[in-house]
Amino acid sequence: MSHKILKKAKLATGIYDYFIAHPTLPVFSKPGQFLIIRIDERGERIPLTIAGVSDGAVRVIVKCVGKSTYKLATLNEGDEVLEVVGPLGNPSEIEFYGEICLIGGGVGAAPLLPIMKALKEAGNRITAIIGASTSEQLILLEEFKRTAHELIITTDDGSLGKKGLVTHRLEELLSKGNNFDRIWAIGPTIMMKFVSAIASRAEIPCWVSLNPIMVDGTGMCGACRVEVNGSMKFACVDGPEFDGRFVNWNELIKRQHQYQEQERIALDLFKKEVGDLSWL
Ligand SMILES: Cc1cc2nc3c(=O)[nH]c(=O)nc-3n(C[C@H](O)[C@H](O)[C@H](O)COP(=O)(O)OP(=O)(O)OC[C@H]3O[C@@H](n4cnc5c(N)ncnc54)[C@H](O)[C@@H]3O)c2cc1C
Ligand code: FES
Repeated sequence: MSHKILKKAKLATGIYDYFIAHPTLPVFSKPGQFLIIRIDERGERIPLTIAGVSDGAVRVIVKCVGKSTYKLATLNEGDEVLEVVGPLGNPSEIEFYGEICLIGGGVGAAPLLPIMKALKEAGNRITAIIGASTSEQLILLEEFKRTAHELIITTDDGSLGKKGLVTHRLEELLSKGNNFDRIWAIGPTIMMKFVSAIASRAEIPCWVSLNPIMVDGTGMCGACRVEVNGSMKFACVDGPEFDGRFVNWNELIKRQHQYQEQERIALDLFKKEVGDLSWL
């Protein structure tokens, strides 16, 4: 069964917001879960976190990084994708903790949205730190302003908010005596690794959403295996959220890059096929 793209919006260069028609995902998905999309018969399966739902549609926010995410960006409202499977993975553990710090790096702000809304509804006080390389790459600021009790913006180049990394702002808050009961961090793996190291020193449980390479998304292929607290876990069925203080980050980063050469070749061939992609 194919699924129509009902709405598509450009949030930043190479980052798109899609609402895709789906009969069951809007009813059954919970914050923290993901879906898998296959664009067409020849397409690979790409996991994407559910950024929200609306009547009859599921929202995903996607950064173009390789062939499949570029190909998705070439589709427009009214076009269809072949398969959308989910919800997959475990929902976030939403309950009342007290003070929460949410940290989103780049497109990682998107999966944090439904988590932030649910944590606020559960009575938590939310401090959100959202960072990107430049102001142009910062997404969903209005939605974060509306929901977070306190919003801190950072950019690597200082073009908006404070100059520097999200980790600097977290350290600053902790050194000023902020006591967080939980941290949630979603973004580039290296960002989640360093947030987790700070959380470990401060002894604060720290949820991160891991993004190893996935194939089936149902615990059968082993592609997404990660080491957490010394045991082997499958991110698709045991996660995708884990306490980052116990993740073997170096192994995860190594495994994420294992097909880099093939990914580069596939993207180069795709770019030759479609031509100009400067509109991205
Ligand atoms: C649970 C989960 C949720 C995710 N949610 C989002 C999201 O909400 N928005 C978003 O933009 N991206 C998300 N990603 C990452 C997204 O799946 C990859 O960017 C996408 O699969 C890359 O496909 P590609 O063909 O465009 O790029 P490729 O050329 O295949 O790869 C480019 C990069 O993406 C990584 N990657 C490749 N294949 C996968 C795969 N199957 N799973 C994970 N990473 C892969 C590679 O390590 C490589 O660094 C998520 C990943 C996971 C595991
Ligand atoms: S993606 Fe195959 S086991 Fe997780």
